[in-house]
Amino acid sequence: MARLTINNEVREIDIDPAMPLLWALRDHVGLTGTKYGCGAALCGACTVHLDGEPVRSCQVRVGDVSGRKVTTIEGVAGRVARAVQSAWQRLDVVQCGYCQSGQIMSAIGLLAQNPKPSDADIDNAMDGIVCRCATYVRIRAAIHAAARDLA
Ligand code: FES
Ligand code: FES
Repeated sequence: MARLTINNEVREIDIDPAMPLLWALRDHVGLTGTKYGCGAALCGACTVHLDGEPVRSCQVRVGDVSGRKVTTIEGVAGRVARAVQSAWQRLDVVQCGYCQSGQIMSAIGLLAQNPKPSDADIDNAMDGIVCRCATYVRIRAAIHAAARDLA
């Protein structure tokens, strides 16, 4: 049994504590906005926030998040999240969309820590969040646009 706080809701789920958080979110809680890409920390599609920090949910065991706050793409809220979502829409960032949950969670995590990131800061924070549609240029532009909105 695991007791998880997901998007500000406490959930008790009858699962093996060794299960990766990604599996619990998708298969047991029904939050399928977080994507499975590789299962090996190589793609970032599974990125969620743990106490506000972006983490790869395929690499986090459910038993290790007890008492911590998990936020998924379905639960993001607040000024930074709104700025990122608005910039993403205005710049039409998304192509197929598969990677975008991870991209947005990472971008929110970056701007929450660093409201005025340089290109290098963005590249560093977004490194390893793979986009097969190569939307990287629009992602970087949208992060700058969100930063301007937050200034
Ligand atoms: S599915 Fe977690 S990093 Fe790829
Ligand atoms: S938008 Fe298609 S993989 Fe990123």
